[in-house]
Amino acid sequence: MPPAGHVYVSRALTDAAMRRLAELDVPVVVHPDPDRPPTRAELLAGVPGAVAVVALLTERIDAELLDAAGDQLRVVANVAVGFDNVDVAEAARRGVVVTNTPGVLDEATADLAFGLVLAVARRIVEADRFLRTGAPWSWAPTMFTGLDVSAGATLGIVGLGRIGTAVARRARAFRMRVLATGRRAHGPEAAALGVRPSTMDELLERSDVVSLHCPLTPDTHHLIDGAALARMRRTAILVNTARGPVVDEAALVEALRDGVIAGAGLDVFEDEPEVHPGLLELDNVVLVPHIGSAGLATRDAMGVLAVDNVAAVLSGRAPLTPVTA
Ligand code: DGY
Repeated sequence: MPPAGHVYVSRALTDAAMRRLAELDVPVVVHPDPDRPPTRAELLAGVPGAVAVVALLTERIDAELLDAAGDQLRVVANVAVGFDNVDVAEAARRGVVVTNTPGVLDEATADLAFGLVLAVARRIVEADRFLRTGAPWSWAPTMFTGLDVSAGATLGIVGLGRIGTAVARRARAFRMRVLATGRRAHGPEAAALGVRPSTMDELLERSDVVSLHCPLTPDTHHLIDGAALARMRRTAILVNTARGPVVDEAALVEALRDGVIAGAGLDVFEDEPEVHPGLLELDNVVLVPHIGSAGLATRDAMGVLAVDNVAAVLSGRAPLTPVTA
């Protein structure tokens, strides 16, 4: 017998996930506008009486929201591997399970990270923009030259978890040297991929490309600040597919403008969906709107896993992918 109450879904998911939701033996209420997140007021109005909330990373799940939902709430299923939008400790205090979607988006996110590496290193977007101007051109020895990724360039992976490891596999195929921080950098999988464990300072100083794959926590907020950027090579590229606030965006704009580093590829932003206006003016940066996991099958898998977590908790089973504070 499922508990009384509804499942509140803060945005329509992919068809596969919506079908899985429809199989639940519980009423489902979906935020009606698929093109924008619910406002805070809409969110607070949607959750009272809910036994489960399926949330995206755009929703802040905190004490106020948990209060609004009520004591019957059993589970918050975040449709993302990152869960910095959820106050996990507060949920745990109230006995509300929090789940995320690890494992199913590693390859898609690593593809995007590596795409950004190549796009910035080989100035692909800049060259595309140039061609579209209709300006005359002919093949020239120095036209749009950039970093040779496959000529022994060094990649520094900050936070070698699942996604970082998937990036390391790609880097290996490109014959890059790979340095990494994080516990897994000392493990057998990293060793098999030729990854060398590194301190943060060494990684910043030695890498031609620094790619961020750490979660956003109080410890990693502004991990890449002005001082960190100043440690990087003037020819280096920064790629961020993790979370925007890991980088001090104002400091990054200055560094890119002043030639402290050569370029950046950003999928995430400090104040999403806002993008620092300074970034929009720069040619040496490639910007995409948080699409790291936007493979069709990946987004299906994320949504289905979130709903499966709800189904498990509502039927009294253990969640598949719980997170802990
Ligand atoms: C995540 O899952 O945390 C991603 O940022 C969503 O693409």
